[in-house]
Amino acid sequence: MNVIDAILTRNAQGKLGLPAPDKVALDKAFACALRAPDHQVLKPWRYLVIQGDALQKLAELYISASLAQEPDLAPEKIEKMRKMPFRAPMIVVAITSYKNDPKVPREEQLLSSGAGIQNFILALHDLGFTSMWRSGPLTENPGVKKGLGLSESEHISGFIYVGTPNSEPKKIVHPPLADFVADWN
Ligand SMILES: Cc1cc2nc3c(=O)[nH]c(=O)nc-3n(C[C@H](O)[C@H](O)[C@H](O)COP(=O)(O)O)c2cc1C
Repeated sequence: MNVIDAILTRNAQGKLGLPAPDKVALDKAFACALRAPDHQVLKPWRYLVIQGDALQKLAELYISASLAQEPDLAPEKIEKMRKMPFRAPMIVVAITSYKNDPKVPREEQLLSSGAGIQNFILALHDLGFTSMWRSGPLTENPGVKKGLGLSESEHISGFIYVGTPNSEPKKIVHPPLADFVADWN
């Protein structure tokens, strides 16, 4: 698949099953992530791969961290969190690791980290896998961040759910270019 086809056909899916990428495929996708444009080559990112039994641990972390913030959390919300990590056989936590640099503000580092995630999900698509970039309040939860080993200068930029779809892909809509692109002179 060429790059343009990969970009135009990538399609996020909410429910993913096996197979997940093996180590060879995953390493290739991470090599693509690490080629993101990166001012001053700060490499302001890192990734955690969560699969197998670790998905259960992630569910437990979500629940304990949420209860620490909100002890009266509704049982339905707890149940939802228990199931959340099992929407795919693999979750990649994309972490932006902000560096102190006089030339590169945090906004640029966040953009670079986002470009890395996009490279990653496009590469996975090329390798025959599907992903869904997710966020939500758990990305900001201090207990979740601590449990995943983030430092004070790190931020969860996405939970990337990875696997193979077991339902029909949604229809891809290509927005009219004229709504977003204009000539200026
Ligand atoms: C930073 C970021 C966070 C996102 N978080 C969520 C999310 O929590 N839940 C969700 O349904 N979609 C989320 N999305 C959007 C999906 O990943 C996906 O892009 C969307 O469903 C549209 O599908 P498509 O990418 O195939 O066009 C997020 C996207 C980005 C860039």
